[in-house]
Amino acid sequence: MFKLKGIKNMTEEERLKYMIILVKGQLSSEKNDLANISNVTGIIKACVDNLNWAGFYILRKNKLVLGPFQGLPACNTIAIGKGVCGTAVETKEVQLVADVNLFPGHIACDDASQSELVIPIIKEDKVFGVLDLDSPLKDRFTKLEKSYFIKLVDLLNENIKWENI
Ligand code: SME
Repeated sequence: MFKLKGIKNMTEEERLKYMIILVKGQLSSEKNDLANISNVTGIIKACVDNLNWAGFYILRKNKLVLGPFQGLPACNTIAIGKGVCGTAVETKEVQLVADVNLFPGHIACDDASQSELVIPIIKEDKVFGVLDLDSPLKDRFTKLEKSYFIKLVDLLNENIKWENI
């Protein structure tokens, strides 16, 4: 059974470190890539406050296809260059959007979303998808979180064969 230990009293960085430890534990105890990234969404949701959506979009035949996630049902596919996720794929850059209402072309899968952090999943210059985090609070995501989510995606890249999912 999954148990969180004393997370309520942790600082922001302690929580993020704990999230990385839990992800390492998941990756070292399970070989199935789909099970791993599914549980990673659960770990993120458990460790990070004020998220209404956390999940993966996987690049398939030149479009992003919905993968494992936590939150309300979302768009099934996103074209490259569209929305925050498609922009992260096109630019190959992390998108930290303080107010999604000010992002041209933002795709509102969940009306509650106010800010968004999207990390492109890039291995040897090839994009495999994105990790997408949405918050109901404006300006929710910090630079510290951005650095830890980049670390998390690096860790996944070392362990996950995205083309097999
Ligand atoms: N807001 C995203 C779409 C995905 S949902 O947030 C889950 C975007 O603009 O790409």
